[in-house]
Parts: sequence; structure tokens; C-alpha cells
Amino acid sequence: MANKIIAGNWKMNLSAKEAMDLIKGISQQEIPSDVKVMVFPSALYTGLAATFAEGIEIGVQNFSENDNGAYTGEISIAQTKSVGATIGLIGHSERRAYYKEDHATLKAKVDKAISENFDFIFCCGEPLFIREEGSELQFVQQQLDDSLFHLSAEQMMNKIIAYEPVWAIGTGKTATSEQAEDMHRNIRLWIAEKYNEQVAKSVSILYGGSCKPSNAKEIFAGPNVDGGLIGGASLNVEDFTALTHSF
Ligand code: PGA
Repeated sequence: MANKIIAGNWKMNLSAKEAMDLIKGISQQEIPSDVKVMVFPSALYTGLAATFAEGIEIGVQNFSENDNGAYTGEISIAQTKSVGATIGLIGHSERRAYYKEDHATLKAKVDKAISENFDFIFCCGEPLFIREEGSELQFVQQQLDDSLFHLSAEQMMNKIIAYEPVWAIGTGKTATSEQAEDMHRNIRLWIAEKYNEQVAKSVSILYGGSCKPSNAKEIFAGPNVDGGLIGGASLNVEDFTALTHSF
């Protein structure tokens, strides 16, 4: 069974004090027991967040595909684990667009995470021009084929995928619940075709892109929408907590 997940991607926001206040604030809230909550603070605050988090998984927004050594500015999975991270994002559209992370790099990150037994959320999603030309299904399927679907059926069990249409990220523009459900249904179908029904049912598929308390209920009502990867609305205790009650 896929898990219900609300994940907060804090991106490059907040001072150490603000991050600490936010994690403490979220930890004090009533969260439904069947919802998994994760937050992805700036990597600088991983240790701090892990210390103050209660019932919340702490993750990193990015990690290296290498073990250790001369990779200035990078962080390894072992380092993130040593300060309490249990999960990392792979292939967020901002990493793909601004830091030129290509399919081969993302595939290497997936393989590194698997070999280190480190959980991850694999992000995918089409830019606006692809949506406008109507080829979003082929585009997203290709992203998954290129960097994720080389895993074995056993490795794919219980994985997490976030569908984030690039045109909806941080823009206030949200995919309609039909657009989100349509893509999620197809992603699950591709997994069932490539692997099997059991694997497809075990994968959690999250929606991301201007998801907030006012639109979450409708989006999460989609039978193939298992939760959200939340940017802007994850920076506020009330909004983020409200999202965990939106299923
Ligand atoms: P947003 O960001 O909710 O601010 O659109 C989502 C994301 O990039 O993960």
C-alpha cells in the first residue's frame, strides 16, 4: 500500500533560528497517525532539525552521487545520515534547470541511494512548453525511463515519486485535480506495465506545485494522489499542518 505523505521542501529559505522554530512548531501539532510527515530543510540545518523533530522524518534537498573525497561543496549520503537525515530529494526541477543535473547524474544518485539504503523522493514533471504542445505524458515517462525505471522490481517497491509540473512550482498556478490525477494514474500504469501491480500499488505518488490548504483536498481526492511535496506552504506551521489533515 502506498503511504500518505506530506513533505515540506524548504528550499533556500529561513535562518537557523527560523528553521528551529518551524520544526518545533510542526512537531507540536496533531498529525493524523496514518500520514507520514517529512521536511527537507537547508542541508546546513539537517542536524538541528533532526534534533528538534518529533515524529517527522528529516531529509536533504540534494546529495552527491559520490562516496567522499575531492568534491568541493557537495555532501555525501554518509554525511547526511551522520546528522540524522533519512531521505533525500532527487531530480527536483530546480536542480535540473539551474544546476544542469542530467539524466545520467540523476540515475547515478538513484543508484547511490539504493546502495546506501537511503530513501529518496524522485521528482519529475514537464515544463510549460511541453504541456502546451500536449506531450507531457511522453516527457514524464521518459524522465522515469531515463533515471528510475532501471531499478529491479524489488528495488522499486515502496519508492516515492513526486510529480511536479514545472509551470506550477512557486507560480501560484496549480494543476487541476484532473490534470494531477491523470498524470498520477499514468505513472502508476507505467510502473504496473514495467514491473507489476504489486509494485505499482506500493509506490507513493506525490503532487507538487503551489499545493496549499485551499486546493489540497481536491487534489488529494484523486485515487492515485498519495500526498504532496510542498514548497511555499511548508514554511508556515498552520498551512503545513492543515495539509496533513487534507486527505
Ligand atoms: P511550491 O513548490 O509548493 O512552492 O510550488 C513545490 C516544490 O518545488 O517542491
